[in-house]
Amino acid sequence: MNKRENFGSRLALVLAMAGSAIGLGNIWRFPYLVGQNGGAAFVIIYIVSCFVLVLPIFMAESIIGRRTRLSTFGAIKKLAPGSPWKWIGLLTVITPLLILGYYSVVGGWSVDYLWKACTLRLTHNTAGLFPGFISAVWEPLIAFTIFLVATAVIILLGVKNGIEKFTKICMPALFVLIVGIVIYGLTLPGSMEGVIYLVKPDFSKIDAGVVAAAMGQAFFSMSLGMGAILTYASYAPENENILSSGVGTALADLGFALLAGFAIMPAVFSAGIQPGEGPGLVFDTLPYIFSQMPSWIGAILGIVFFLTILMAALTSSISMLEVGVAYLQEEKGIGRVKGTIIITLIAWVLGIFCSLSFGPLAGVKIFGLSIFDCIDKLCSDWLLPLGGLLFTLFVGWYMSKADVRDEFTNHGTANVGVFSVIYFLMRYIAPVGIVVVFITNLVL
Ligand code: PHE
Repeated sequence: MNKRENFGSRLALVLAMAGSAIGLGNIWRFPYLVGQNGGAAFVIIYIVSCFVLVLPIFMAESIIGRRTRLSTFGAIKKLAPGSPWKWIGLLTVITPLLILGYYSVVGGWSVDYLWKACTLRLTHNTAGLFPGFISAVWEPLIAFTIFLVATAVIILLGVKNGIEKFTKICMPALFVLIVGIVIYGLTLPGSMEGVIYLVKPDFSKIDAGVVAAAMGQAFFSMSLGMGAILTYASYAPENENILSSGVGTALADLGFALLAGFAIMPAVFSAGIQPGEGPGLVFDTLPYIFSQMPSWIGAILGIVFFLTILMAALTSSISMLEVGVAYLQEEKGIGRVKGTIIITLIAWVLGIFCSLSFGPLAGVKIFGLSIFDCIDKLCSDWLLPLGGLLFTLFVGWYMSKADVRDEFTNHGTANVGVFSVIYFLMRYIAPVGIVVVFITNLVL
């Protein structure tokens, strides 16, 4: 068996986890969901979900990973030998593959838009650019392939030389870039309306659908339910305080989502555009806004913005690929290189279908949805919450309380005071919250 690598320090672990959490979910999905679901009211439910629903599940994954030092499949087998719980492992082999496929398509869009920004394509008339681009065959496919290959290269380099080094460079850079964009955005005339939209709640907008959307987004954004956090936690240094890394990751993820909102909404309002546009908000609306600015400002902002999205997407996609590669390494004895190639190829084939579903395959519908939308919905509304539900039930109800406490408190040396609160959330609140999301998604 290959010698198992670990992250070199606690900072490396938190940066890698935050890297996984912060991604397209924060910059692409969060702002448009805020726009579609009534602004600040959505943001408030999102914040509450992060701590009440998501943090306990984050802890559950961390506990399983760190206790066993194995990736999902092996970890569950070790903790529950011979029991049907092993099927969680299977779920966490399939979900990352599906997500990696469609996520890389959007990652590819950011590669392409970065290129467009660098070649000054976003400084003049951008009308029709986005629909034309995604419905084409080759351009999005090439961009998607570049993104996936970049992800694979980082994973090939390993946990320390790949994931750790890459996230250590990208994460601080990401924060600097997004803060820069926020500051610039706030100087635009009329931008205050965007700020007000994000901070002044209109509770009449809240209904079951908004609550479910906020919870589902909190879930996706924290990379839960498919073993990414579990796998990273299995590389945690010995005495890592898993509660602090969980809270650190949650705050970084939340902070980044809010910053992304403040980077985008003021510009949207300043340009007099309605925020509820949906998935095209970042790739369609923003380039339009850039093209309306003095051309050198539009060019610089476009480059900085799409570079930020690309880096954020890559630090997430590597965590999806790592889950599969770690599984093949541990369970099938397949080396890192071969494992990376196998998983990348499967995700590539899946991604081709997702990419083409905006163009030549647009007519192919599954339950009335395009291939891309169907996989997106299947993963974020069903598979990830299901994985999260199973993890939290496993830790809350299957593992012995003594073992959970032992791991959570680093053998009784840390976080002793908060254990009961988190344990209660894990056993009761988080499972009920997820079931509510399920029921709402079924009914709506
Ligand atoms: N959290 C990532 C994002 O916000 C997406 C992700 C989901 C990553 C699930 C890993 C696992 O973009």
